[in-house]
Amino acid sequence: MPHDPEHPPAKKFKPGSPFFRFDKKPGMLLPRKGNASVPIDVQRKNLPIYQAKSQLVYQLRQHHNAVLIGETGSGKTTQIPQYLYEAGIGRQGVVAVTQPRRVAAVSLATRVAEEKRTQLGKLVGYTVRFEDVTSSETKLKFMTDGMLLREAIGDPLLLRYTVVVLDEAHERTVHTDVLFGVVKAAQKKRKEQNKIPLKVIVMSATMDVDLFSQYFNKSPVLYLEGRQHPIQIYYTKTPQSDYLQAALVSVFQIHQEAPVSHDILVFMTGQEEIEALARTCRDIAKHLPDSCGLLTVIPLYASLPPAQQLRVFQPAAKGCRKVILSTNIAETSITISGIKYVIDTGMVKAKRFNPDSGLEVLAVQRISKAQAWQRAGRAGREDSGSVYRLYTEEEFDNLIPMTVPEIQRCNLASVMLQLLALGIPDVMNFDFMSKPSHEAMRTALEQLDLLGAVDRKDEKVVLTPLGKKMASFPLEPRYAKTILLSPDFQCSEEVLTVVSLLSVDTVLYNPPARREECLAARRKFTTSEGDHLTLLNIYRAFKKVNANKEWCRENFVNSRNMSMVGEVRSQLRDICLKLGVKLESCGPDTGKVRRCLAHGLFVNAAELQPDGSYTALDAHQPVSIHPSSVLFQAKPAYVVFNELLHTSKCYMRDLCLVDADWLVEAAPEYFRRKLRPNKS
Ligand code: CDP
Ligand code: MG
Repeated sequence: MPHDPEHPPAKKFKPGSPFFRFDKKPGMLLPRKGNASVPIDVQRKNLPIYQAKSQLVYQLRQHHNAVLIGETGSGKTTQIPQYLYEAGIGRQGVVAVTQPRRVAAVSLATRVAEEKRTQLGKLVGYTVRFEDVTSSETKLKFMTDGMLLREAIGDPLLLRYTVVVLDEAHERTVHTDVLFGVVKAAQKKRKEQNKIPLKVIVMSATMDVDLFSQYFNKSPVLYLEGRQHPIQIYYTKTPQSDYLQAALVSVFQIHQEAPVSHDILVFMTGQEEIEALARTCRDIAKHLPDSCGLLTVIPLYASLPPAQQLRVFQPAAKGCRKVILSTNIAETSITISGIKYVIDTGMVKAKRFNPDSGLEVLAVQRISKAQAWQRAGRAGREDSGSVYRLYTEEEFDNLIPMTVPEIQRCNLASVMLQLLALGIPDVMNFDFMSKPSHEAMRTALEQLDLLGAVDRKDEKVVLTPLGKKMASFPLEPRYAKTILLSPDFQCSEEVLTVVSLLSVDTVLYNPPARREECLAARRKFTTSEGDHLTLLNIYRAFKKVNANKEWCRENFVNSRNMSMVGEVRSQLRDICLKLGVKLESCGPDTGKVRRCLAHGLFVNAAELQPDGSYTALDAHQPVSIHPSSVLFQAKPAYVVFNELLHTSKCYMRDLCLVDADWLVEAAPEYFRRKLRPNKS
């Protein structure tokens, strides 16, 4: 089995071995007094925001727009909705609080319900993709920004809300950025139509809020005093070629030297990497001398099921140190107490986009300075702390100052589809806070045109009936299209399964230590038809044994993620039923599924070249098959793929074997231009 370039096997680590040295820098963030953990009402009053409560309530009552800045952990997200409610602001309707991530929406709603001493789903609730825990009583509603956008399609004036709190605005996710425009338009229209006014509160953990204030009619900016203790900053002496290894060594250096009650937070890039390092840490921890104290390793990433996420908030057992391995989710949207040490790999997995090609690539890349400071700040929440930057000071100096908003570096097909579904008259001139390039917007509209989602009418771009249906799914346009096409190939049940499998994180569990066993188990399901069909086989087998947990263990299947697939599937199926999509199964004739995938994903097609390499047809860009794919050795002539991942090379992930004829049949014009002349 070729070795996965993303996850090299961890090198042997000998406890106590000298590895690299850090340079010391004096603390740079302002100190402030700490708090003790006590009953929940007292905790609320101990938050920095409490000092400013009456001022804030006064200001928020006065203005329709406000920007609120406060350090992460100062109490913005949990307290502002309660302050509004208690002061009777916006009581005629619902207060919506948006979050870029579902994990945060769920955990915050849980916390606020607890503070309000009510059952979750009553006064306080949450709505995230594929899950709605609200009722007619719900007045404080935490939701992902994507969900509020979805609701805006049916209710462009957002009439059920009296206040929209756009939280974590500094993150500038695509959804938040689109929401800025949608909310601003709704606010304006409600005023014009003499409807109940809409109050918009933008909250940010970083100071660069001029843009927000400008955009929202020069709204007042309210500052909260932070609670930050001094932080020691360390850099590595030399650049690190392997940040995972560096992180591993740092964890154990700290573990052997620091008091066991001090917890560690490590910033990494993604689920697979985190799970792999978690296993290595646990293995090493087993073999440490007793003098070292125990270690609990807790992964944290967006797709973790809620019950698992809550583990990060629980204090470690006595005599045990907590090590949290997290994605950038712990940067701002989640606050964890007890953190004394932050290890910052300096890396993040983020989207990158080439507007000429229309190809979006997920790539592990360097963070911005703003992110580095944000990460550092996590160490000084309750007391003084330290941050170990796994890069040199020079490397830090060369980081870009601010993260480029996602909307300027992603494929905009989804955004454009949503704007059109929202009835925005002129999408190219939508009032974005940071406008994406004209090029990127045009490419997106071209892709939607290829998918049959849009049409031109008197110089205006409009949605086709198919496009309207596509917008009903909380999915990338190409997956929505694949589902909508599936009845033509008599395989809608299978396509629903495949799309659901792609919508959650991987259902495959790959413990590096049991590689051979794992491969042997997987072989039963592997098909030369590709990864989608291999996944389908696994799902079918899982259903056959009635989701048996033992079966999952034996077959290296992640039963949690698999159950999530079932939930996602039933929701997508409901949407199909509402839209009158015919549901049927192709049985053993899975060629139909591949043909349908070819029709839906043709923009992501690649062709084998005479020299054995691949070219992505859309951009004519060289790509390779990811070693984790079942097609890695097969090298078929044509494939469609789900996504591109850029590490050492540009890898296609999740591939499906297709016929060239199917591609041509899916988009004849397009492929006449794209295919090699002798093949088309
Ligand atoms: O939004 P901001 O970062 O300013 O703070 P917050 O999310 O309102 O959190 C304030 C405090 O509430 C945190 O420091 C935690 O002590 C507590 N909290 C919690 O215990 N559980 C959560 N899920 C969220 C917050
Ligand atoms: Mg917050």
